[in-house]
Amino acid sequence: MNAHIAPSILSANFLRLEDEIRAVERAGADYIHVDVMDGHFVPNLTLGPTIVKAVRSITSLPLDVHLMIENADAFIAPFAEAGSDIITVHMETGYHQRRTIDLIKAQGKKAGIALNPATPLVMLEEIITEIDLLLIMSVNPGFGGQAYIPSMTRKIEEARRMIDATGQRVELEVDGGLKEENAAMVAGAGATILVMGTEIFLSQSYGQKIGNIKKRLGR
Ligand code: DX5
Ligand code: ZN
Repeated sequence: MNAHIAPSILSANFLRLEDEIRAVERAGADYIHVDVMDGHFVPNLTLGPTIVKAVRSITSLPLDVHLMIENADAFIAPFAEAGSDIITVHMETGYHQRRTIDLIKAQGKKAGIALNPATPLVMLEEIITEIDLLLIMSVNPGFGGQAYIPSMTRKIEEARRMIDATGQRVELEVDGGLKEENAAMVAGAGATILVMGTEIFLSQSYGQKIGNIKKRLGR
């Protein structure tokens, strides 16, 4: 299983963000996951396009930007211009997700849709062939360090079948509560990108941690 690893900078030391990003890049990260929160859609407030622009200037890794915000349409261009490679919006926000996906693609970026744990996969039926990435939240969004919700494994397996049935290449990303111990199980369920925040940024050695995770993934 060649799942890729996307450290979430939400759990990085923001007083040393440049060092942290260079360190996980050196340690073998495949993406940088950027958690954008607006204090409305989720009960937390984080960062905006200015930070994405700064991160863009110090890494060549793909920036995987996760918008946990209402009114995402208004921010697609700013996050695209800041250097995002993938822009993911939540199915639960906004009313016209097809228009939002078109907005992201019009910026030349990859488009993702995220589903909260309580949102069923059936919501994707009309849009699954239009997206580049499906993000399955395995925690309720808003904070790092939460426990993986076990019932999400079945949802990941079902999402894998749904994507395979389209015959199209859609990344299946899982986000929340992922650790060295459950990484292989989640990848085995069909995930191709694993987001990890606290597991990586609270570890003693990013190189050792990411190396161990890759070993568990058979990479
Ligand atoms: C939660 C964020 C996740 C979170 C992951 O709302 O979307 O990306 O930062 O953190 P861990 O890996 O610690 O659960
Ligand atoms: Zn995230």
